[in-house]
Amino acid sequence: MREGCRARGGGRMECSWKTILLLVCASLGVQYTAIRTLRDSLSGPCRGAYRCQSRHHGDSRWTALCDDSWMPVEFPQKHILLFATTRSGSSFTGQLLNQHPGIFYVFEPLYHVQQAFTNSSSRLRRTLDRRALLGAYRDLLLNLYTCDLHFMENYIRPEPQDHITSSLFRRSSSHALCSPPVCLEGVDAVDPPDETWCPKKCGALNLTLASMSCLSRGHVAIKTVRIPEVGDLRTLTEDPRLDLKIIHLVRDPRAILASRIMAFSEQFHSWKIWNVTGRQPRYVDLSQITSTCKDMVASVETGLQRPAWLRGRYLLVRYEDLALSPEARVTEIYRFVGLEMEDRVRMWIVKNTNSNVSTPSEWNYKYSTTRDSRVTAESWRLRLSFDIVRTIQNLCNDTLALLGYSQVHSAAELRNLSRSLVEPRTFQPVT
Ligand SMILES: *[C@@H]1O[C@H](CO)[C@@H](O)[C@H](O)[C@H]1NC(C)=O
Ligand SMILES: *[C@@H]1O[C@H](CO)[C@@H](O)[C@H](O)[C@H]1NC(C)=O
Ligand SMILES: *[C@@H]1O[C@H](CO)[C@@H](O)[C@H](O)[C@H]1NC(C)=O
Ligand SMILES: *[C@@H]1O[C@H](CO)[C@@H](O)[C@H](O)[C@H]1NC(C)=O
Ligand SMILES: *[C@@H]1O[C@H](CO)[C@@H](O)[C@H](O)[C@H]1NC(C)=O
Ligand SMILES: *[C@@H]1O[C@H](CO)[C@@H](O)[C@H](O)[C@H]1NC(C)=O
Repeated sequence: MREGCRARGGGRMECSWKTILLLVCASLGVQYTAIRTLRDSLSGPCRGAYRCQSRHHGDSRWTALCDDSWMPVEFPQKHILLFATTRSGSSFTGQLLNQHPGIFYVFEPLYHVQQAFTNSSSRLRRTLDRRALLGAYRDLLLNLYTCDLHFMENYIRPEPQDHITSSLFRRSSSHALCSPPVCLEGVDAVDPPDETWCPKKCGALNLTLASMSCLSRGHVAIKTVRIPEVGDLRTLTEDPRLDLKIIHLVRDPRAILASRIMAFSEQFHSWKIWNVTGRQPRYVDLSQITSTCKDMVASVETGLQRPAWLRGRYLLVRYEDLALSPEARVTEIYRFVGLEMEDRVRMWIVKNTNSNVSTPSEWNYKYSTTRDSRVTAESWRLRLSFDIVRTIQNLCNDTLALLGYSQVHSAAELRNLSRSLVEPRTFQPVT
């Protein structure tokens, strides 16, 4: 067979198998060297094992390389995206991943990208479109999934010096960034007391150490509320360097709104007036909740249609189901991402969901206080006036119907918590 590649009719290139192998080897070699360099400067032992990625069974080029195992390749094995919207319970859900000792969890790294773009010069801001911002988001996600945390330095303000920063958004939310080897003072706290404890205890963050910690954990989970639709993630699901699993967290839009009004008091001032007076102020902004609902429907429809690029990579989770039976839902989530559930995850659930079980060995469904959790999940029903609820129901009727949230038709029905508005639904994982 002739070496090299040659053009064929219709613009196709045909290459000899040797050339293909050489090209693949060269590209893997570059990545391998980069990872190796990082690893070599790590003093402690790395737990990550050499392995080929499992996702490319069907792809003969990768199968050949993986089966021979003469080319050690190291990637984090699982790449998990917790894909959610503001005030949909994503911090809680993120903690269920963060507690796993094998997972390197990052809380909303895209915050820095958005900040950087928002604060850039007005000329740039004018020319910046949605596509460019999403491109920057995806670049950062890809680099984080391959454990290059230095890539964050492009966006963090003030600019990190010598790969050191004190400005990483919500660092305390990430166990890996507050424990060895990143932080030698780091206690193995299951429950960090507040947002400042970690920077206080650990000092500034060394992003080189953070990259090493990422490599040593092997799995990377990232939470974001800044990607509008699951379709915006397509190039990442198709990237051969990744094995992406998307957990799409949704929540009743009426609950999301109630939570936003409480959390962002100033921004939602007119909603508070509406809530109290029962009259809709003319200047109330309905566009945000409307687009939240629209994006949610678009993503769920895409996910449940099972396009080839998303097959086996999409799991729809309703926050209310998670609140109602956390143990069952979390088990499902871990099965979906292909990891074993860990005791520390179970312990965290017990501590944070009113389940009265003291030790993991006594873990049992019947002990969980499902009633308490349900009341928490539906407490929005006591926080919104019926007039607001009716408006949201009209704006988001498709979302409510698709996700199985019942509408109410009177204030009495709204306040009567003895009937749940969360209809039982199962959304099968795409296989
Ligand atoms: C962006 O600009 C605002 C106001 O000019 C400032 O308060 C904020 O700290 C800046 N954010 C970043 C990340 O530089
Ligand atoms: C950050 O960590 C790396 C790896 O341990 C180390 O070589 C480097 O000196 C550290 N940087 C600073 C400024 O301490
Ligand atoms: C859990 O048990 C403690 C005592 O062991 C009790 O005070 C508390 O009320 C219980 N919580 C729930 C939600 O049942
Ligand atoms: C709306 O008003 C009710 C009282 O009518 C109050 O209990 C509730 O907290 C308010 N909700 C918000 C989100 O402020
Ligand atoms: C939602 O409302 C729109 C406009 O009122 C209507 O066309 C649509 O059929 C409704 N959808 C559902 C699921 O009821
Ligand atoms: C609340 O709903 C339950 C079940 O639908 C019903 O039996 C009960 O009468 C309602 N209570 C009030 C005060 O409307």
